[in-house]
Amino acid sequence: MTRWLVTGAGGMLGQDLAALLRASGADVTGLARSELDLTDEAAVGAAVRNVRPEVVANCAAWTAVDAAESHEDEALAVNGHGAAHLATACAAAGAWLVQMSTDYVFAGTGTRPYSEDHRPAPRSAYGRTKLAGEQAVGQLLPDASYVVRTAWLYGAHGPNFVRTMIRLAGGSGMVDVVDDQYGQPTWTCDVARQIMALVDSGARPGIYHASSSGSTTWLRLARAVFTLLGADPRRVRPTSSSELARPAPRPAYSVLGHGKWASAGLAPLPDWEYSLRVAFPSIASAAVGQGSG
Ligand SMILES: NC(=O)c1ccc[n+]([C@@H]2O[C@H](COP(=O)([O-])OP(=O)(O)OC[C@H]3O[C@@H](n4cnc5c(N)ncnc54)[C@H](OP(=O)(O)O)[C@@H]3O)[C@@H](O)[C@H]2O)c1
Repeated sequence: MTRWLVTGAGGMLGQDLAALLRASGADVTGLARSELDLTDEAAVGAAVRNVRPEVVANCAAWTAVDAAESHEDEALAVNGHGAAHLATACAAAGAWLVQMSTDYVFAGTGTRPYSEDHRPAPRSAYGRTKLAGEQAVGQLLPDASYVVRTAWLYGAHGPNFVRTMIRLAGGSGMVDVVDDQYGQPTWTCDVARQIMALVDSGARPGIYHASSSGSTTWLRLARAVFTLLGADPRRVRPTSSSELARPAPRPAYSVLGHGKWASAGLAPLPDWEYSLRVAFPSIASAAVGQGSG
């Protein structure tokens, strides 16, 4: 039985990963931010020494993309230095580290899926801080770390786009959604299962892309959610990023390539539309129960 430590265990991915690991029979310690603050280097070292994990999955992050533009130092303290603290602690304890990262490390101006070794060029503060985390982990723990980039996450826990569309579909008004950003809506449970499979595979360390197969736009995702709920998808109107300007630039093309999974003997994540249908009952009932984000 593998002993895991999940940091950021109160977050959207952390909750699903900890639950799926427990369901698989793993020995899991999940620590939410109130139990372990990644910016506290001494506390990080003590937690890893106490838990003695074989694998640490770092799901903690500053994920407020727009707020990071005006608070880059605070975001870096979590996403960059926090990841470095964990990598240092893992190196001392002989543990592996799975560091979660993001499509925002790329410029998002491409026209073909970004491969795992494509040169990062983040255009936002959030992307820069996540890249700093990737680099720290790669340097401090090169032989015992996976950087797992994901994108456009949704799940039963926490605010996300799919839950927001579920709430809006329940109303009667029109909804404006951008149709000029391409990406891969990705279910947290698919990512969690892929992390578990990656660790089990004994694949070589490095960068892997855990985003859904296929790609779409936010508009088409919103319409798919409306359709699944039996609401009229024509209530979702196309708009453009320039009409919905936000502090942090959004990548226009955030499609990740999945070529590296073959080297681990693993298949990429399923197609986004398939996973949305599978995930939908659990997301919709959680959105009704908790109020969607
Ligand atoms: N959501 C997406 O669309 C997306 C896309 C690409 C990549 N990712 C990456 O995937 C991973 C998981 O994201 P998520 O969507 O599950 O994010 P999330 O729901 O925001 O969860 C992140 C968790 O980290 C915690 N946290 C923040 N600062 C911390 C600190 N200093 N010490 C310890 N914990 C801290 C947060 O606690 P509080 O809530 O109390 O602040 C939160 O529970 C992250 O690495 C993220 O960068 C996410």
